[in-house]
Amino acid sequence: MLTVSAPGKLMLMGEHAVVYGHPCIVTAVSERLQVMMEKTTDGKITIDAPQVHDTRFLKQAIFEGNTAWNITQRGLLVKTQCNFSNCYGFGSSSAVTVATLFALTQLRNKKVTKKEVFDVAYKTVLKIQGVGSGFDVAAATFGKTLLYTKGGGILEELPWNLNDNGVSLVIGYSGVKADTPTIVKEIAKKREEQTERVDKLFSAIAKLVSQAKEAGNKGDWESVGKFMNFNQEYLRDLGVSTEKLESMIAAAKKAGAYGAKLSGAGRGDCIIALVSKDRRENVQNAIVQSGGTIVATQTNAEGVRVDP
Ligand code: MEV
Repeated sequence: MLTVSAPGKLMLMGEHAVVYGHPCIVTAVSERLQVMMEKTTDGKITIDAPQVHDTRFLKQAIFEGNTAWNITQRGLLVKTQCNFSNCYGFGSSSAVTVATLFALTQLRNKKVTKKEVFDVAYKTVLKIQGVGSGFDVAAATFGKTLLYTKGGGILEELPWNLNDNGVSLVIGYSGVKADTPTIVKEIAKKREEQTERVDKLFSAIAKLVSQAKEAGNKGDWESVGKFMNFNQEYLRDLGVSTEKLESMIAAAKKAGAYGAKLSGAGRGDCIIALVSKDRRENVQNAIVQSGGTIVATQTNAEGVRVDP
């Protein structure tokens, strides 16, 4: 059987604004979702994916891939395996979509670029979710740490390595699962009602993202942390933070993080804190004391690939 895997993602900066065409910074995480695929002769598609809690993405991906790449022989057996929890908001739907499409191209000998895989995967996700910038699809496809704009207009790999290379990222789960599409739709409604105010927030966030990119590219993590803190203030103004997230963020900052913010749609999921190596343990303990759970993961992971 052919095995393909794609990574989960973690939003570093620019969430929500990215839905409206502004850039964000996203990193791929070491948790991966595997798709095992083999051809069958019965013409049927058999799916054995007990851990994938919503198989619509997988089925739609096969349909979209078959159509996009003119695949006429359609018999398949597909299995999945996942080493990350669906709870953290690491993006299992985008990972399963990308891994399925990439597996299909490999199994059917279709010579396509990763950008083509991304395009079909983003279309698939949009058909099911209706909303979203595709940043999660980009992380699953290309991996690494990316500056990204909606639909892949900008896809720039950043030379960031936050894996204990002097500086690292601490991730704290709030215990609350966020419903991203619902929150994105809520923000769209808010923007309709208060267009000027919300667009101002998005422009301010976009500016922070480009400042953070410049600072991070020079290894100035103290400044990146400061920009993350400002980003969090704007997300709070937008109305997507919660008391729990705020207390975890405050604890991380008090324990010496360069900066801390929520990651993703808000209302739950995770916070991220940027820390120097010597503060890592303190910050982790502070997050746990404020009621969070530390999620141990590496960032900057490889994009979709064939596994041995
Ligand atoms: C959710 O993790 C990030 C959002 O920006 C939505 C998206 O970009 O699709 C809120």
